[in-house]
Amino acid sequence: MKAQVIRTFAELARLEVAALPPRREPQRILMCTPEYFEVVDVKNPHMEGKIGTVDQRKAVVQWEELRRTFLQTGHEVVTLAGQEGLEDMVFAANQTLVGMTAEGQPYVLLSCMTHASRQREVPYYRKWFESRGYHIYTLTKEAERFEGHGDALWHPAKQLLWGGYGHRSTLAAYEQIAATLHVPVIALELIDPNFYHLDTCFCVLSDDTVLIYPGAFTVEDRAMIARLFSHVLTVSAAEATRCFACNAVALDAHTVILQRGARETVALLRAHGFTPIEVETGEYLKSGGSVFCMKTMIY
Ligand code: ARG
Repeated sequence: MKAQVIRTFAELARLEVAALPPRREPQRILMCTPEYFEVVDVKNPHMEGKIGTVDQRKAVVQWEELRRTFLQTGHEVVTLAGQEGLEDMVFAANQTLVGMTAEGQPYVLLSCMTHASRQREVPYYRKWFESRGYHIYTLTKEAERFEGHGDALWHPAKQLLWGGYGHRSTLAAYEQIAATLHVPVIALELIDPNFYHLDTCFCVLSDDTVLIYPGAFTVEDRAMIARLFSHVLTVSAAEATRCFACNAVALDAHTVILQRGARETVALLRAHGFTPIEVETGEYLKSGGSVFCMKTMIY
């Protein structure tokens, strides 16, 4: 089957998900050290009024707490050194899309970041993956913008991607990604600027359950989500915005790590058999990021 970008419910209805090749899930976690993390400009609405307000000491403590939490779940955490002048490099979800072919070759597809300072992060990640035997894919200029696992999220255990577009990634990027990786991409338009990356409003919890903030999507795109996930758990605007409740990380099918304080979301997760672990990422919320953005899963 030719890999394609799927934009409508009718197109999705023709996709045979069960027939798609399997994908091994990565189990290790890559984080980038936070010593140069700062808010120096406004790249997204959450950063408004936050320039110069990051408490460096707190940011390091929160990053360490998150790292320890990942370790406690039994996952190996590997770190990459943050670089001076690259204030957002700590958001390790964004610089690459990490995958593995059905034949077992790990690869990364490099992002085309929207902001100049973030474009300079990508070569550090490239070098890191290259030296560990990952195959490197790049996009051409026509792709314009693509921000890795900020916007591209794998469907569980399948060679199938969900791709958010409209703010930091383009549909043209997904056309290239589908063609390059031979993986279909279900494109979801992000219609609210507060939810500028797909990982701010869509969190895959297991093979049949997803956590979303519905207001970030069109009605048709919500129907596409509901077609592939039999349980769609929804987060309120307050918890999605204030706590970044959808920017969570699900590990091992049951554990869900998320920012502290999303009371309704925590109760909802428990009611559906998940074990939420709450952590504090308040300094990173000032930059429009939380748990999910602060790592990428690697092989
Ligand atoms: N300040 C960063 C930016 O606007 C935050 C990135 C957060 N990452 C994410 N995957 N949502 O680019």
